[in-house]
Amino acid sequence: MPIIAFDGQEYLAEDNESVLDCLIRHDVSVNYSCRAGVCQSCMMMMKEGTPSEASQKGLKDALKAQNYFLMCSYVAEEDIAITRPGKDFQSVETDVLALDRLNADVLRVRLARPDNYSYFPGQFLNLQNPDGVERSYSLASLPDDDDFLELHIRHIPGGKVSGWAHTALKVADRVSISPATGDCFYTPGQSGQNLLLIGTGTGLAPLYGILRDALRQDHQGEIHLYHGSSAAEGLYLIDELKALDAAHTNVHYHPCVSQGTPPAGMTAGRADQKA
Ligand code: FES
Repeated sequence: MPIIAFDGQEYLAEDNESVLDCLIRHDVSVNYSCRAGVCQSCMMMMKEGTPSEASQKGLKDALKAQNYFLMCSYVAEEDIAITRPGKDFQSVETDVLALDRLNADVLRVRLARPDNYSYFPGQFLNLQNPDGVERSYSLASLPDDDDFLELHIRHIPGGKVSGWAHTALKVADRVSISPATGDCFYTPGQSGQNLLLIGTGTGLAPLYGILRDALRQDHQGEIHLYHGSSAAEGLYLIDELKALDAAHTNVHYHPCVSQGTPPAGMTAGRADQKA
């Protein structure tokens, strides 16, 4: 009989018994309601094992990609390990590897990637300052190519975390980060679909990750990236994005400037209106 590992305990499932029924039979306290795959209140994340298609019916693609499933719709045929959503959302410490200015207001922070730290480009993590204040920043790095986590942090006047990052943070400092979360990332399976990516300021960070992740996964559809700012000085990673545009016939980079006359090669107007 298969074993279900959960919360540090192991439970034997009977033949044709759903994971939910197994845990209820063992008097384990878990959320559930409909027991029919509708309400999603019994959703868990599978850490070991592969959810069936039926057990992920109705879940968002982002959740499916992270191995979320519905316990009432899954009968284990081999040993699995599961955890509650958010159960693993505990902070870890890591080192600052590099700090670089991308423009006058944006700092690129590269952190050592902790062991077993999994994420999708475009998801976000919470970065904590020494006073325990947290702010969310998107991941622009690629887990398969980069051994660091890349964040783009804009200096917000009076910002408790961005101000600390821009003025006090140093290479080799230890910082605390949460696990990555969020459902904004590239999901393979529709390679021919066109992608439209629009962002302003440091909203580029997740898009930069998603764009490169799509290319890494051989996305064939057209990819348009509109990056906007009120002034050309507010844009960044221009050379890198131009290089991607030049190297891939399906990549189209559109730097947009909403105020004044933009420099040659840039578009006048708001990114969301030009897209
Ligand atoms: S209990 Fe409602 S979906 Fe499982």
